[in-house]
Amino acid sequence: MAITIEKLNELLNHDLELEYSAAIQYINHSAVMKGAAYGDIIKELKIHANEEIAHAMILADQIDFLNGEPTVNVGDIKTSKENETMLKQDLEGEEDAIRRYKIRIEQSEDLKEFALAQQLRNILAMEQEHAMDLKQALGI
Ligand SMILES: [Fe+2]
Ligand SMILES: [Fe+2]
Repeated sequence: MAITIEKLNELLNHDLELEYSAAIQYINHSAVMKGAAYGDIIKELKIHANEEIAHAMILADQIDFLNGEPTVNVGDIKTSKENETMLKQDLEGEEDAIRRYKIRIEQSEDLKEFALAQQLRNILAMEQEHAMDLKQALGI
């Protein structure tokens, strides 16, 4: 079935919910994570939080431009008492985002929404950097 603008807006709103939840999750994890060995990644997580907010802002603007209604719902947030578990939760979120944005870029191009596709490519590149930072911290 071919993608429609309505369906794309629905999917972008799901992406937007998950950008909001990613920002909150990073704020939480960077606040509760302890230990000198984690100092560098804690700083990175705080940067990620701001970048997820920037992604949310781009998606909300794009949804509005496409005559959709940007959601104010927030997706699921995961946390833990264990540093490693939190980093794994963050990595799972990034890997999910990478999967979703690759599909979303193709769908935008199918609809000839090339400016949206370009914005999504920039977001995708940042999610890949986030995943790399987390893998580095996890030693994987
Ligand atoms: Fe993001
Ligand atoms: Fe991210």
